[in-house]
Amino acid sequence: MSENSLEKRKNDHLSFASMCQTGFQCDPRFFYEPLLAPHPDKNYDLSLTFLGKKLQAPFWISSITGGGKTTAIINQRLALAANKFGIGMGVGSCRPLLEESERYEQDFNLRHYVGDGLPLYGNLGIAQVEDLLLKKEIKKIEDLVSRYCYDGLIIHVNPIQEWIQPEGDRFKRPPLETIEHFVRESGIKIIVKEVGQGFGPSSLEALLKLPIAAIEFGAKGGTNFAKIEEIRAGSVGENPLSSVGHFAGEMVNILAKLLDRLGDKVLCQEFIISGGITSAVDGHYYQQLLNKSSVIGFAYLMANAAKSSSEELERFISNQLDLLKMARSYLVVR
Ligand SMILES: Cc1cc2nc3c(=O)[nH]c(=O)nc-3n(C[C@H](O)[C@H](O)[C@H](O)COP(=O)(O)O)c2cc1C
Repeated sequence: MSENSLEKRKNDHLSFASMCQTGFQCDPRFFYEPLLAPHPDKNYDLSLTFLGKKLQAPFWISSITGGGKTTAIINQRLALAANKFGIGMGVGSCRPLLEESERYEQDFNLRHYVGDGLPLYGNLGIAQVEDLLLKKEIKKIEDLVSRYCYDGLIIHVNPIQEWIQPEGDRFKRPPLETIEHFVRESGIKIIVKEVGQGFGPSSLEALLKLPIAAIEFGAKGGTNFAKIEEIRAGSVGENPLSSVGHFAGEMVNILAKLLDRLGDKVLCQEFIISGGITSAVDGHYYQQLLNKSSVIGFAYLMANAAKSSSEELERFISNQLDLLKMARSYLVVR
């Protein structure tokens, strides 16, 4: 290091220290253990097997978009980033494909970007699955999954969003019945998720007992579709339904108790921890607490970065990788 850059650094430290007094701020979730690990280097291994495939890091691009004017380019950026970093991805709702398949080809035909070795899942709302089951047309779902070479289907369960959405669907049966019916009738791998309000204990218990591939939290704390739909509907003020739900931390606690109590009745063993995850440090905390096969999912933050550019998206994911390596090296859950 040159004399000058050393001097500049020392001067910077003196100048900026006054702006950087932390007082009593402290992340209460971790013991900080600075003695016990070297700095993570480029060989630091975050890889894991998840949903039967090898990921380079425990991250997941949560279902975001498809079927809009500018969504194909966002999805392509996301899919290329999944490939570059070796992480999994769920596409946004494939409902447009059920209506006009050719028109939305570019939005959803992503397997060649992602590559065969990584998980890529299609996505439909429970309302569409219910409808196709009742019409005995689940072949349409099976064809969609095979046409786009998806590993399986994510079913999003969103009663509050549908209720508030001006053009929203109404469920004729409890979503659990629909999911059980679909699992019985189809050989497709299934992931079940919420869209930002999470699941309570009885719903989680029911899901754990089903032979599904994974549960994605879609927890409260991040994007809130009750609010989005209210704004779309032109309403002012807060719909009280936007305040209900479960944060990821609460869901982890509920799951830990359920997993303990249910023992070998548990058939679903993998989890996508998502919804309100602000960084890989949050993800590290929940992964350690849950202590099961899991990945950390981001929707809004991935979408926002991908909207800007591929470079911005890669920067975001790279930062999360570094954060996770540092968290695993020095942060122990209290
Ligand atoms: C713009 C946008 C579109 C979304 N579209 C879908 C969707 O089509 N299907 C779905 O299952 N979830 C969808 N979600 C929900 C996310 O997958 C995720 O569950 C939710 O946003 C919470 O995660 P977050 O706090 O990281 O945003 C969408 C989220 C955003 C921000």
